Amino acid sequence: MAPYWSDHWGNPSSRQHRQGLTAAAAVALARRQIAETLGVDSDRLIFTSGATEANNLALLGHARAQGCGHLISVTTEHHAVLDPLAQLQREGFQVSLLEPQPDGLIKPSQLAAAITPETRLVSVMAANNEIGVLQPLKELAAICRDREIVLHSDAAQAFGHIPLEPDNLGLDLVSLSAHKLYGPKGIGALLIREGVRLQPLQWGGGQEADLRAGTLPTPLIVGFAAAVQEAMADRDERHTRLAGLRDQLWNGLNDQLPAVERNGAAAPRLAHNLNITLPGMSGSRLHRSLRPHLACSSGSACSNGAPSHVLQALGRSRADAEASLRLSLGRGTTPAEIEQAIASIVEAVAAQQS
Ligand SMILES: Cc1ncc(COP(=O)(O)O)c(C=O)c1O
Repeated sequence: MAPYWSDHWGNPSSRQHRQGLTAAAAVALARRQIAETLGVDSDRLIFTSGATEANNLALLGHARAQGCGHLISVTTEHHAVLDPLAQLQREGFQVSLLEPQPDGLIKPSQLAAAITPETRLVSVMAANNEIGVLQPLKELAAICRDREIVLHSDAAQAFGHIPLEPDNLGLDLVSLSAHKLYGPKGIGALLIREGVRLQPLQWGGGQEADLRAGTLPTPLIVGFAAAVQEAMADRDERHTRLAGLRDQLWNGLNDQLPAVERNGAAAPRLAHNLNITLPGMSGSRLHRSLRPHLACSSGSACSNGAPSHVLQALGRSRADAEASLRLSLGRGTTPAEIEQAIASIVEAVAAQQS
């Protein structure tokens, strides 16, 4: 990224001088590199400021282009999906939210039953950001395709961690974020299938095929592509290694804390996520005791500290949602750190029981 903050500072939309052309070439290469990993043509990728904006563009953009109708999503989606849908409801669209099973997964039959002749758009995330479960996108896509309904998926947590082939899955709109795969914050993308109509959210210089006006942040885009390439290079090996460490974490906690419960299906799920509830514990005391040892939370960074709507949608009480830990593993996590994490959590629980 570094040269694009300094030496190659040109605006990629300025095509009449060398500085601009150099930046444009870097953006074009990055777009190609990211698109290749998804198995799609690069002109289907629109850069955004992240998955929040990509979700807004997909949902508001497609619904508004339709004018009216019925939209379907799931109660356990990220707020970056739920809040644009609430906005569309205020604008007169009908919105239905499917309630997942207690393991966090929705059944294709639930979607089929919710579809009406007015349904225009379905949005189901690929991997849940709090509990890591993977929704059955291929089956959901087949249901949507038969009825010519557009399917959007927020894949912010899946891209770079598990195989993601939007065309093979049958997805029409896919939201991506760089910082979920070790890329820079402030950049993401929306992948759009040809023929899907979208109304832009903003107007200006006509960048990104008139769908996302504004000067492109070349360094962030270059960083996004570099992170994607690194993520793809070790994705499968990382998945296997982190699944082993995640199991070590769960088994260690389960052995020492008989009351611990795991949130979300054991499979299919992301390898690097474990979400647990310690029923009866005080959530605030738990987090206070863990703070010096662990960087973990009970919900999403975008929930302003409110108890997790995802855990409550699975049937957890407000108190149990607060007494939950969302534990994430990363590329650098070691077995020794897992043992330390187990010890810290066991100690924090013991401190409350004494
Ligand atoms: C599933 C999901 N969607 C959307 C977002 C928001 O992504 P961004 O920070 O790129 O806007 C996040 C990140 O918190 C996420 O986990």
